[in-house]
Amino acid sequence: MDKFIINGGKTLSGKVKISGAKNSALKLIAASILADDKTILRNIPKIEDVNIMIEVLRTLGAGVDVDLENKAIEIDPGTINSYEAPYEIVRKMRASILVAGPLLSKFGRVKVAIPGGCNIGSRQIDLHLKGFEDMGAKYSVEHGYINCIVDSGDAGIKLSGAVVTLDFPSRGATENIIMAGSLASGKTVINNAAREPEIADLVNFLNAMGADIQGAGTECIVIKGVEKLKGTDYEVMPDSIEAGTFITAAGLCGDGVEIENARLENLETFYSKLKEIGVNISIIDKNNIKVESPKKMYRPINVSTLPYPGFPTDLQPIITVLLSIVPGVSIVTENVFENRFMYVDELNRMGANIKIDGHHAVINGVEKLSGAPVTSFDLRAGAAVVLAALAAEGTTEVSNIYHIRRGYEDFEEKLSSLGADIKKVN
Ligand code: EPZ
Repeated sequence: MDKFIINGGKTLSGKVKISGAKNSALKLIAASILADDKTILRNIPKIEDVNIMIEVLRTLGAGVDVDLENKAIEIDPGTINSYEAPYEIVRKMRASILVAGPLLSKFGRVKVAIPGGCNIGSRQIDLHLKGFEDMGAKYSVEHGYINCIVDSGDAGIKLSGAVVTLDFPSRGATENIIMAGSLASGKTVINNAAREPEIADLVNFLNAMGADIQGAGTECIVIKGVEKLKGTDYEVMPDSIEAGTFITAAGLCGDGVEIENARLENLETFYSKLKEIGVNISIIDKNNIKVESPKKMYRPINVSTLPYPGFPTDLQPIITVLLSIVPGVSIVTENVFENRFMYVDELNRMGANIKIDGHHAVINGVEKLSGAPVTSFDLRAGAAVVLAALAAEGTTEVSNIYHIRRGYEDFEEKLSSLGADIKKVN
């Protein structure tokens, strides 16, 4: 199994360019099912999760051509002849569930394996299913699969627009219901919708295909179903979480690091928390950020994760690494997932002093971390231990790095280009 070997203590400097957003690209690939003809998606990140979503579409019968050089993929949904997302694929990536909305909306049926939980929590899909039911679908659970069909009598296989109120502003449920409503008959209103920038990217993409969707970025999204959607040519937004990861790496051990394509409007809360710590971060323009060595001692802070525009849960492990070497006591509270502190044991093996109390991580800042053999429990936990290793004294071996490859394009190459001493070995 591949590992990273990292010799810490190097000062990062130079320029790094942020890739396309994983948590938008996966949804746009699924949404391309809704079109009657070909779609081209650009700025697609070369990551494992994209490969898995392409595999899902090919399993459904769609044609997918990948132009790696230009980071583009062309999707032809015209040859889709299956409505089943099989377990052996869905268990690899729970985001596969996002083909349900498009398949239901266009073909009136879907059979999708129930996505497993993962290291950070149970990852329910009850809100997705409730939305589909509100729109006239019926579902049953058999042998680990959800069978969902639309039988609207004379309306045939068309979903019906409905008012759907989410108990929690779930991103996946919001995305699936937006896609389900796109070809439904009538109007769908989602109350308590998720407001992440990736939702707006999906809506912009669907509207470019001819959909009629208003309210993205607010807690109320209105989708007026249309007869059909056409293919389009669309560029995926930059990845805010990758940007936050590199900005934090620069705050940890950088001087003069420029992060290109870091759209600040997607990172307001994160940015304000870094400023509160005292990270010497400056805005070059709306798409570029610079981090220089701190002018003064970093200060401990408290952070609570919340759905957007709150502090993003995906950057919770990342900011915890920075706080682990800030003198004083910081408290990080995880409100979105039930088990997202697995990586803390790995940081403590590297000399951090963090205690978990329920949803809280109580961090007593230490002077320095020291290299040790550690593992990646999930995508963001893996990135966190890599950042810790960059700042640590000595050598760190990071195992299970396939988690990191799922969501960070050329992670070690980008870090090396900034001066990090990081190598992949198998
Ligand atoms: C998306 O997951 C992201 N993944 C996650 O990023 C991110 O952490 C999460 O949103 C929160 O921001 C993708 O976009 C592919 P949710 P998603 O539905 O859509 C509960 C990463 O590292 N819930 O907002 O699954 C659920 O159990 C990944 O890039 C229900 O109870 O997130 C969780 O506790 C990790 N019932 C919470 O809501 C439901 O029907 C947030 O889930 C749906 C969700």
